[in-house]
Amino acid sequence: MGGTHRKPQRPAAALCREVARSVDAPPSLLPVFGELFRGMPNLGSQPRRVASMLERAGIGPRSRVLDLACGKGTLAITLARRFGCRVTGVDACTPFIDEASRAAGRAGVAGHVTFIESDLRVFVSRLKRRRDRFDAALMMGLWPLPVARRALRPLVKPRGLYVIDDVFRDERLTTQQPEFADIPARAESLSILEQDGDRVIDVDVLAPARLRALNKSLYRSLAANARLLRLKHPHLAPALLQFMGNQRFANRLLGRELRPAVWVVRRA
Ligand SMILES: C[S@@+](CC[C@H](N)C(=O)[O-])C[C@H]1O[C@@H](n2cnc3c(N)ncnc32)[C@H](O)[C@@H]1O
Repeated sequence: MGGTHRKPQRPAAALCREVARSVDAPPSLLPVFGELFRGMPNLGSQPRRVASMLERAGIGPRSRVLDLACGKGTLAITLARRFGCRVTGVDACTPFIDEASRAAGRAGVAGHVTFIESDLRVFVSRLKRRRDRFDAALMMGLWPLPVARRALRPLVKPRGLYVIDDVFRDERLTTQQPEFADIPARAESLSILEQDGDRVIDVDVLAPARLRALNKSLYRSLAANARLLRLKHPHLAPALLQFMGNQRFANRLLGRELRPAVWVVRRA
């Protein structure tokens, strides 16, 4: 059955900080996330490109897919529409999960997608204990690649797929810069993913020009929403300024020092 479920959370403040950090926002903006991200169905990932990668990898109507940190559920809904498969999306952000459920209804796939509001740390450990295994498990743009792999891999069947969207470091631009040392380069990412007999079967690295165009359009929407919020809630002006500064900083690095990539991995 489709629908929305809510699970008990760990201490609210820590989770709130983590959710806010995942979109480079100060936690004081959390109560207005619905308005801040209005009109933005994706928060960085590209559902149609990912769906095509999953189609090439064999996902179809009989598949069960898990999307961890599903945001507003656009990828989950795209997969359910395109393949007729069953998708479970999990995210801790209430306005995003609410929007995801409404969007699934509008798209006519409410019977195929289930959105669960939960802290992923709680959700993943429960799922591991239940030994419930999916044909594919995805994490687009949340945890660093090695952490995402450790969470996703045990949740998929043998020969199943896990998909991670994360940045790798451009070696030529970052050799002298210690602040990027913890981020794997492309070859390091590949060897992290290909441990234990797993195989990377597809990788999509966005061309810098396309990435800049995407980020420009996301930035424009955010700036317009932030302007409206500043008028409505003047006390949020400093937090909104900081938020927009964080977005500019991230956008300067993306496509240069940091290259976002979607990795499709077949589990051994
Ligand atoms: C950058 S967004 C990516 C959303 C989506 N995957 C996409 O590409 O559009 C990160 C998401 O992670 C969620 N998130 C962050 N920490 C979380 C946690 N501990 N548990 C559940 N969701 C979390 C946020 O609410 C947010 O929707």
